[in-house]
Amino acid sequence: MAVAGCILRSCSLTDVSRPERWLLDRAAGAADCEALADEFRGRIAAGNDPLGDAFLALRSPAVRRSSGAVYSPGPIVESMVAWLKREPAVARVVDPGAGSGRFALAAGRALAGARLVCVETDPLARLVLRANLTAAGLADRSTVVAGDYRLVRLDEQVGPSGPTAFIGNPPYVRHHLIDGRWKQWLAAEAGRLGLPVSGLAGLHVHFFLQTALLASSGDLGTFVTSAEWLDVNYGKLVRALLVRHLGVESLHLVDPSVLPFGDVATTAVITCFRVGRARRTVGFRKVATIGELGALERGLGVRRDRLQSASRWTPLLAPPKRPPAGYVELGELCRVHRGTVTGANATWITGRDDANLPATVLFPAVTRARELFDAGDRLMSLDGLRCVIDLPENLDDLDPSERRVVERFLRAARAGNVHEGYIARHRKCWWSVGLRPPAPIIATYMARRPPAFVRNPVGAHHVNVAHGLYPREPMTQAILDRLAGTLSATVTTAGGRVYAGGLTKFEPGEMARLAVPSVELLAANEVAA
Ligand SMILES: C[S@@+](CC[C@H](N)C(=O)[O-])C[C@H]1O[C@@H](n2cnc3c(N)ncnc32)[C@H](O)[C@@H]1O
Repeated sequence: MAVAGCILRSCSLTDVSRPERWLLDRAAGAADCEALADEFRGRIAAGNDPLGDAFLALRSPAVRRSSGAVYSPGPIVESMVAWLKREPAVARVVDPGAGSGRFALAAGRALAGARLVCVETDPLARLVLRANLTAAGLADRSTVVAGDYRLVRLDEQVGPSGPTAFIGNPPYVRHHLIDGRWKQWLAAEAGRLGLPVSGLAGLHVHFFLQTALLASSGDLGTFVTSAEWLDVNYGKLVRALLVRHLGVESLHLVDPSVLPFGDVATTAVITCFRVGRARRTVGFRKVATIGELGALERGLGVRRDRLQSASRWTPLLAPPKRPPAGYVELGELCRVHRGTVTGANATWITGRDDANLPATVLFPAVTRARELFDAGDRLMSLDGLRCVIDLPENLDDLDPSERRVVERFLRAARAGNVHEGYIARHRKCWWSVGLRPPAPIIATYMARRPPAFVRNPVGAHHVNVAHGLYPREPMTQAILDRLAGTLSATVTTAGGRVYAGGLTKFEPGEMARLAVPSVELLAANEVAA
């Protein structure tokens, strides 16, 4: 940071906050580093970010996670700036959560006359940002706002004579780290726009909302974020903002199996929008690597009204596939239920030989996905499975000797506050886990590989590491075998939700939409293997 201080030494900084001044004073007292500062100036002028890299090395990942400080790689910044450059009239660039200024610097260089407004809460990052702007010769047309993006009022900045462009990588901070008053802000502001809001929304959702509040017709923008909001319930607000207020023009999803931000486990989608210039179709595009992003050309055209009605957007990235003739959705044949949530596996899961509880309350169950992967096409035995302790709601159903033992167990559980856990409190009786009946087919639903569909003739129960497939109408053993066999042979990771690094998850509804042969085809044994 002494180098940042050295780069800033020649500037008259009047608007720095107290923490920045403190950092600057420390930097000024550091050993003379003019030679190193010269080297850094050269590297910054060449488009590198040595100070930002130093910042990332200095700040531990745990501290950076709490403020969502993940800096954007060059190819993503270049692609987004290339898209912005198509609007040469841009008068002002706003970089919310600017970090070391990767977007601001690249946009400032590409859009010669534009003013730059960089908003950043972190004083150390702002010091780096100011040094970068200075070294890049952009300080004169920049304003660094020390504060929260949600409090920014753009009319307080120098008024532009052309469109404002918003560009950046809004911080990804999960909802449980967000202060209650900001959740209230989100609900109130979204409510004013008549939009749905979820308490689970992360900080990037707040940034989209604030952008919609600040932007006017003719403005434009491009943000890179993690891709979850495309499909999950809390993303509803972002989807609605993009369709109804921000004029989404295109989306560019980076294949979730790659890690676009280096070793940070996150996905990436780039959104481009032009306020007040909504087109009838929106470009949807998926690229295998960030190197393929290019200048964010529009991809497959998806009708705007489809976006409005779709509850998930990633399926729109691929043209719909027609299932083969005679195939139906799995949900037509079977209900797909998530396994039971115990709420405290350490209490409610035990070995089969647990002598401290009566055998009548111990139910062999699949409690680890590995047990299904290892089983192959069918569970051959209950041996090796652990048991779920499932007590009756009415303890009078136990005989007196069993009841004494169970009450001793419950006293210990209570002493460990198990009865106060979230799930326990929301059960009819905190002590009764309420296992579902054994499912004839049990499926894994979250792995870096396609799900395993395992026949369960031995009657194992399962907890929420797996889904159970329960036939709507009785099925013969042979049909169940063929159904599980065809699912294992044909289901790939497509159709699930892919998370960073290729982890794929099938919610029950997604599994129910898998195409399978009809019962008639299964009965005639005319199935793909
Ligand atoms: C994902 S980083 C992006 C940094 C930079 N724009 C880039 O892409 O390389 C998000 C930045 O937002 C900042 N930040 C977090 N919360 C903020 C808030 N409420 N207002 C303004 N900035 C914030 C963090 O300190 C961090 O530098």
